[in-house]
Amino acid sequence: MKFYITTPIYYINAQPHIGHCYTTIAADCLSRYHRMRGKEVFFLTGTDEHGDKIAQAAEKKGVTIKQFTDEMSDVFKNMWSKLNISYTRFIRTTEKEHELTVREVFKKLMENGDIYQGEYSGYYCIPCECFIPKAKIDQSNPACPDCNRPVTILTEKSYFFKLSRYGNALINYFEKNPEIIQPRFRLEEVKSFISQGLNDLSVTRQGSIWGIPSPTPEKYTVYVWFDALLNYLTGVGYKNNTTNEYWPPDVQLIGKDILRFHAIIWPALLLALGLELPKKIFAHGWWTIGSEKISKSKGNIVDPLNLVNRFGVDGFRYFLLREVPFGLDGEFSEEKFIKRFNSDLANDLGNLVNRTLNLVEKLFNGIIPTGYVGSEMEQLVDSVITNVDKTMEDVCFSDALSEIWKIVGEINRLLDTEKPWNSPLTSAKNTLSQCIAGIHIISLFIYPFMPETAQKIWKILNIPHSKNNILLNKDALKIPEGIKSGQREILFQRIKI
Ligand code: ME8
Repeated sequence: MKFYITTPIYYINAQPHIGHCYTTIAADCLSRYHRMRGKEVFFLTGTDEHGDKIAQAAEKKGVTIKQFTDEMSDVFKNMWSKLNISYTRFIRTTEKEHELTVREVFKKLMENGDIYQGEYSGYYCIPCECFIPKAKIDQSNPACPDCNRPVTILTEKSYFFKLSRYGNALINYFEKNPEIIQPRFRLEEVKSFISQGLNDLSVTRQGSIWGIPSPTPEKYTVYVWFDALLNYLTGVGYKNNTTNEYWPPDVQLIGKDILRFHAIIWPALLLALGLELPKKIFAHGWWTIGSEKISKSKGNIVDPLNLVNRFGVDGFRYFLLREVPFGLDGEFSEEKFIKRFNSDLANDLGNLVNRTLNLVEKLFNGIIPTGYVGSEMEQLVDSVITNVDKTMEDVCFSDALSEIWKIVGEINRLLDTEKPWNSPLTSAKNTLSQCIAGIHIISLFIYPFMPETAQKIWKILNIPHSKNNILLNKDALKIPEGIKSGQREILFQRIKI
């Protein structure tokens, strides 16, 4: 079965920060999970490289735009490689293939009468790359209603996409397929916005130099959002108005800042093209500091590498996915990070693996005890497996992790109550055999969240696993008899405050 998942393509006018990492790590986690469940995953991410602000950033740095975009897209790729992001394709909007897609789609929409010529008169916010109607601007202080930064006045000939034509069709589609926009309260937000009436969307810019040339007699460039949204088509090989076996996307992850582009313009474009709509668009919340969105323009960014270099990549991945329910905002602080790391990872999980393996070495010369799993543990494991599956389908990472941590808690409890260091060997064997079975299950289920840690545990237990299809096969949950534990390693070093 195919599974197509996307992240937004990020602007490259500044370094990636914790917010970009959040969406990309979430997409990586889902990709790894679905691969484990035997799906053929196509995971698309990339960079959004057109628009005035990119040209301005290159100029400020004193390099050519080409040099700038090449360098900056590499910065994003390097970050993803540091964070163990297993993307299938990294798309850049400056690729020839993408330019062809954009021009082809533009032409098709012109032929269908969905794009027409007119004149735009209003405002434009370069940082947000969005058109703002006059009515939305306070004339005494003309600033962008979203980001509050200065706006540019535009009056220019332009081509328009007939977005207004698709309002009713979108509402009808959403009524029939309410699961398409998640979390659910975002769908209500989108519907109420549409019901106020949609304006047609200007899809060309006259004065912008850095963009895809529009296939029109005039030398315009294509509006950067029209260009950017189509990356999801180029990414899986859109040609001559056909898509391949991966279409439509199963999950498209975005931040709530770009919900309207993805929940209105994007599906309207697909309806106009006669293509299937994505199955799920999930808009997550923002990481904030002092309740303000972390963003490059505000300069309040948290450098991911600073945390990763000090505390490891898996601690970082875990914190982001565990701390805050995926659809809601979350306040970042280093104290919260350290608290979560020390309690869940160093204490609960790391200590558990360490003390279990110490006992296995001491009591059984490192031979991994197997065979006995009590009915309580068996029931717990069954319910965790079912619930993790459900929560991952619902894209609720923190719930999936707290499910998995139920097993962590249960094994810690078992060790404390059964005290295998103090009991006859047969009952110690039973206790430890349950502990090991539980740790093994935990290691499989944490793999999508913390791939390095999972693989370390497989090494410690000396049970090799392939990374795909593991959860397809119930045998993977069984531990072979008579194996000797492997090389020991501390999983998480407690952070001293
Ligand atoms: O909007 N908290 O790119 P962008 C959580 N190029 N997530 C955050 C965040 C925060 N504080 N800040 C950023 C663009 N993000 C367009 C997208 S897609 C066709 C074009 C994440 O570089 C989140 O995913 O501004 C948000 O939607 C995205 O970065 C915006 O990245």
